[in-house]
Amino acid sequence: MKQENNKIAVLDFGGQYAHLIANRVRRLGVYSEILANNATTQQLREFKGIIISGGPQNISEDDSLKCHPGIFKLGIPILGICYGHQLIAHLLGGRVAQGKIKEYGKTTISFKKKRGIFEGLSNKETVWMSHGDYVSKLTPDFEIIGTTADCPTAAVADYQRNIFGLQFHPEVTHTASGMKILRNFVYNVCRARQGWNMKTFIRTEILKIKKQLKSKKVFLLVSGGVDSTVCFALLNKALGSSRVYGLNIDNGLMRKNEQKEIEAAFRKNGFTNFHRIDAAKEFLASLKGVFDPERKRKIIGEEFIIVQDQETKKLKLIPQKWVLGQGTIYPDTIETGGTKHASVIKTHHNRVEAMQKLIKQGRVIEPIKELYKDEVRQVGEMLGLPHDFVYRHPYPGPGLAIRCLCAEKEYPLRKNSEENAKRIAKRYKLKAKILPLKSVGVQGDSRTYAHPCVLAGKTNFQILEKASTEITNNIREVNRVIWLLTKRGISKFRLKKSYLTKKRLDLLREADAQVNDYLRKTKLYESIWQFPVVLIPLSFNEGESIVLRPINSTEAMTANFTKLPLRHVKAMAEKIMKIKGIDAVFYDVTNKPPATIEWE
Ligand code: XMP
Repeated sequence: MKQENNKIAVLDFGGQYAHLIANRVRRLGVYSEILANNATTQQLREFKGIIISGGPQNISEDDSLKCHPGIFKLGIPILGICYGHQLIAHLLGGRVAQGKIKEYGKTTISFKKKRGIFEGLSNKETVWMSHGDYVSKLTPDFEIIGTTADCPTAAVADYQRNIFGLQFHPEVTHTASGMKILRNFVYNVCRARQGWNMKTFIRTEILKIKKQLKSKKVFLLVSGGVDSTVCFALLNKALGSSRVYGLNIDNGLMRKNEQKEIEAAFRKNGFTNFHRIDAAKEFLASLKGVFDPERKRKIIGEEFIIVQDQETKKLKLIPQKWVLGQGTIYPDTIETGGTKHASVIKTHHNRVEAMQKLIKQGRVIEPIKELYKDEVRQVGEMLGLPHDFVYRHPYPGPGLAIRCLCAEKEYPLRKNSEENAKRIAKRYKLKAKILPLKSVGVQGDSRTYAHPCVLAGKTNFQILEKASTEITNNIREVNRVIWLLTKRGISKFRLKKSYLTKKRLDLLREADAQVNDYLRKTKLYESIWQFPVVLIPLSFNEGESIVLRPINSTEAMTANFTKLPLRHVKAMAEKIMKIKGIDAVFYDVTNKPPATIEWE
């Protein structure tokens, strides 16, 4: 089906919002395209509808991002969400002011009129808010449709011109009827037709790949993870195996036996254009003495390019005839600050500087870079990859390197932090201790690098979640909370000076293998979205400690720690404690935000 004239435009104002909205519209079966915030009326004329997304800025700032005011005269339905809602008011004669109360999280909205995009909603609905400013003076010709206790203009509409504004976010899963609202907008108001599904994605992407590459070939690094494997399969389908060279680099940072398993799975699937080299020594040598997470990430990303360069030279490939393929997916780009207005949370291995340069030179192809993980999996299955392979847990490009914490010296703490943590923990009948090491987190779209706090005591996950939230909300120096599972004196540890060595990686590999074996045997594997097992240089005896980090998520942009039944938690901890060199086991009880899924 022809996509022109049947698309919804999503204007990007930074952060993750526009992409999440575009993803939601696609899930409704309608093609969506992300455009810059200041897209021209000429660019937007052909769209069925326009969504002005949220963004991290305040309208009152002089240099805040705006959209082209002419778009309101196009006669195309417009939906403004959060910042977009405020922008509509700002540009069309309403007013935006700072609210007395900032609303973050779930709240109840009361609707008084339920037409147009509000059709079929209940009088009261749960919605998700994240704002400080609000529309303080209603825009002329608009009427108020929904209010919350703290926001009198939570939903507004101009039914004449089909322009709508929502202070809350319909695109997040916490807004119970969010998809209903978007469906109403897309189908009933914009009158868009169905035209998007994964089949059409595969078809159009194959055409795009052929057009972009002409007669060139692709050299693709395949890690064996879901994304690069799906990308490999898609390129194979588009170009045929003779034009695709898949290279799997053993960087010494993979899981136990992973290399063999991947190779067997690829061969079983009939991929003959798949090759393997061992570069573990080179990777570990370049990581010698490094402990900073961002440095690790950058070195690994650059090393991939160096090894791949050496390999192409060895194979005598003519650079003009080849491009580099990558299985980058959407969340990889956003957290590296890859969209115009997002900040760097983590430099993903496929977004390091050398790679950015190649991308600018047009020497890289990334056919699935607009997709989220759930969409990648659908494509994978449609391309005939086996279910088990496609549903493997996501695994990061830098592998175990970012799950193996290194330490050079203790990070000192401010005086009151630990006292505060203890005071909060005491109310939950727990003990607390803040660790002298740091891990990466994300708060308000920005990166944090802060301390984990240990909680100890007999309790349950509900209580731990409350205590964890209270601690991370109140103590700025803490972005992560872990629960001690083994009988150890909470303060009786020392921080071991440690770097990335084969010995430490082998120790982590063993603990990780125990966990994965257990998950598969107990059939828990697919009920968990991802399960990083992390080695931290915390010594209670002579060894180190392991942190279990099972999470559930849909797109990895946000995540909740998994509350596994305690008998399974205990059983896994017991198995890990049998490994020589492991002194203690912890369980990460932090959601994302404030912590990230990986520790680094
Ligand atoms: P975080 O830790 O940022 O992770 O919450 C979000 C998701 O991204 C994965 N991840 C990576 N994937 N290259 C990748 O391909 C990377 O450099 C990278 N870093 C994190 C992580 O495993 C999680 O699924």
